[in-house]
Amino acid sequence: MLYYEHKEYMKRENINMNRIGVVGSINTDIVCKTDVLPKVGETVIGNEFMISFGGKGANEAVACARLGASTNLLACAGDDMFSKNAIAHLQEEGVHITAIKQIKNTNGGIANITIANNNNSIIVVPGANSSLDVNYIKKYTSRIKECSIVGGQFEIPVDAILLVSRICRDNNIKFVLNPSPIKDYPIELFDNSTYVIVNEIEVCEIKGYNKKKPLDVLKQYPDKLIMTKGADGVYFSDGKEVINIPAINVKVVDTTGAGDTFLGSFMVAINNGLNTRDALTFANICAGLKTTKLGAQTGMPKLAEVKKYIKANKINLDIKF
Ligand code: RIB
Repeated sequence: MLYYEHKEYMKRENINMNRIGVVGSINTDIVCKTDVLPKVGETVIGNEFMISFGGKGANEAVACARLGASTNLLACAGDDMFSKNAIAHLQEEGVHITAIKQIKNTNGGIANITIANNNNSIIVVPGANSSLDVNYIKKYTSRIKECSIVGGQFEIPVDAILLVSRICRDNNIKFVLNPSPIKDYPIELFDNSTYVIVNEIEVCEIKGYNKKKPLDVLKQYPDKLIMTKGADGVYFSDGKEVINIPAINVKVVDTTGAGDTFLGSFMVAINNGLNTRDALTFANICAGLKTTKLGAQTGMPKLAEVKKYIKANKINLDIKF
């Protein structure tokens, strides 16, 4: 599409230039809560079961939409009941679903999640998410170009995410990478990213890590590399020093989707003009509030709840959105 055609298209479709894009997975989460994890060959009795909406891409998109952002989700779903429910739910949450491609005769992604001792372990079977390939991205490039910031993660093929990062780079669109679940990826993807959000394990895969201490790696990439560390909060370098923004003090019920909430809310804050530090403070609050409720998406906070928390706790954060 030529530039003027693109502008015309935006006008015709009444598309907001500040739209957020998420390219990623849609899963159905099959969740068991237990006090004791089974050892190999052992059966234990759990205490709660639920089937809920998940997938890192869908989670991030819902996090953005709940905070009031106009959000495109670029994803592949199956044609099974789980996928149909997931798409209907995304629509109810206000996520734009017209770039979700349903793959015929294919099941959607499934995540088998065990929650124990305030933590989780997850097995993902990608299903239709594997169809989110380079050809899909080529077909939906205009939906990426509608956005001012785009996020991506690794529950879909890495070469598709690499192409997204190139489109963003070439069109002056901010790109936020969460290289999770961890896998090998080209350095170009890191270089094309405006922000890279990692945890303590993923930071070891960053170029220049070379067995350094994680905080020294952060110093190499000021205002770009961000490390989350669970209850210790988040770390980044502002170019002068490494700054820690502590996690908020809450009673944790379920950490599933907290990282996705963090990324989505960070994008919303950056897209609304907050600087990196304030955007991280905002994201930290949103992710913390998420952990107080069960379910990746069902537990995500809405903007009013976040603002209420900021006010009640006298946090110095000027939210104008
Ligand atoms: O990040 C949490 C998500 O990871 C879950 O919702 C699950 O679907 C897995 O993809």
